[in-house]
Amino acid sequence: MSRLAVGFLGCGLIGRSHARGLVGAGGAEIVAVHDPDRDRAERFAAEFCPSGPAAVLDGPGAVIAAVDAVYVCTWTSAHPELVAAAAEAGRAVFCEKPLAVSLDQAEAMTVAVAGVTNQVGLVLRHSPAFRWLRATINRPELGPIMNVVFRDDQYIPTQGLYQSTWRGNVDLAGGGTLLEHSIHDLDLLEWLMGPIADVSARTGSVHRIDGIEDQASVRLVSSAGAQASLISVWHDVLSRPSQRRVEVFALKGYFSLEGDWNGPVTWDTAETELGPATSGSLDGRALYDVAASLDGLGQNPDADFVAAVEADTTAYPSFSTALRAHRLADAAYRSAAAGGATIATPVVAEQPRR
Ligand SMILES: NC(=O)c1ccc[n+]([C@@H]2O[C@H](COP(=O)([O-])OP(=O)(O)OC[C@H]3O[C@@H](n4cnc5c(N)ncnc54)[C@H](O)[C@@H]3O)[C@@H](O)[C@H]2O)c1
Repeated sequence: MSRLAVGFLGCGLIGRSHARGLVGAGGAEIVAVHDPDRDRAERFAAEFCPSGPAAVLDGPGAVIAAVDAVYVCTWTSAHPELVAAAAEAGRAVFCEKPLAVSLDQAEAMTVAVAGVTNQVGLVLRHSPAFRWLRATINRPELGPIMNVVFRDDQYIPTQGLYQSTWRGNVDLAGGGTLLEHSIHDLDLLEWLMGPIADVSARTGSVHRIDGIEDQASVRLVSSAGAQASLISVWHDVLSRPSQRRVEVFALKGYFSLEGDWNGPVTWDTAETELGPATSGSLDGRALYDVAASLDGLGQNPDADFVAAVEADTTAYPSFSTALRAHRLADAAYRSAAAGGATIATPVVAEQPRR
């Protein structure tokens, strides 16, 4: 059977990460790439494409024409046009998060991809640590989730490993730590807690980069009454490239997560009708195995994308999932602009998935 032909638009940090995921997964071949930074595209092609630098093409249109599926891994403002072109040509699309710099654009993109297999780079949905947390905190014998403390911090990514000047340009990035980084967290919080009913937020900018908030405090309340506090910070501590710590209190359980992927996760539970009090921790391989036994999901989002394209079916997580996170981010920005007002975030019917 011939291997799925994949193209890349954008050959930077996250493009390289997905290329490694695809190579690891097998079943796909990266046959065409484009990046206005041609040196970068050539280095990418030399490393990941069987045809080497011959895979570097002159524009997005040539890449889209040459492949079955397209990865859109450019800076955020370029996503909408490239996604629309790929979907219009009937290609499956994997697009990085955030989908776009505005909610309106994210909505239009979700409509545009409704007829093709589509997936978004909310990769923490595949994290063994978060999958374990979600399955565990929602065990009925532990009673309702009461409160979540979610801290996400990293050094401002205009420096260090990232060195991305575009993350300091609101026209290209759409916002700062809340949209660019914590869209993952907004998605995870609703996934962990259930539908979010309202949001209030404050943002600030110590670095004083126009339109790029470097701190955000968001309060979320679920329709079941659970509360969460999200703290999102971009600082100058170069030894902290990206760290998350999550603590969850259910009526009969306390849980913590540190380490986005490998854990450790810890728990302390009270006696329930199913058994005595427990406590423990898990990380690494043992955590992978337990997470897989809970939901049967793999931990390679690129392998899942290839499988979904080949089966011509829905991929996970899809643009519709990301659109909901955009609605929460948009509500948080509107709240901050109004001094922290509470903004309702009802779940609305999205475009039908394939
Ligand atoms: N899922 C995640 O955890 C995660 C992590 C990092 C970045 N991202 C997202 O991925 C996207 C890219 O981030 P990055 O860190 O790889 O940035 P980067 O700066 O390393 O790479 C972006 C590349 O896109 C190229 N580019 C710009 N316009 C283009 C166009 N029209 N066609 C083709 N290439 C174009 C740039 O030249 C650059 O090489 C952003 O939206 C970012 O938010 C997601």
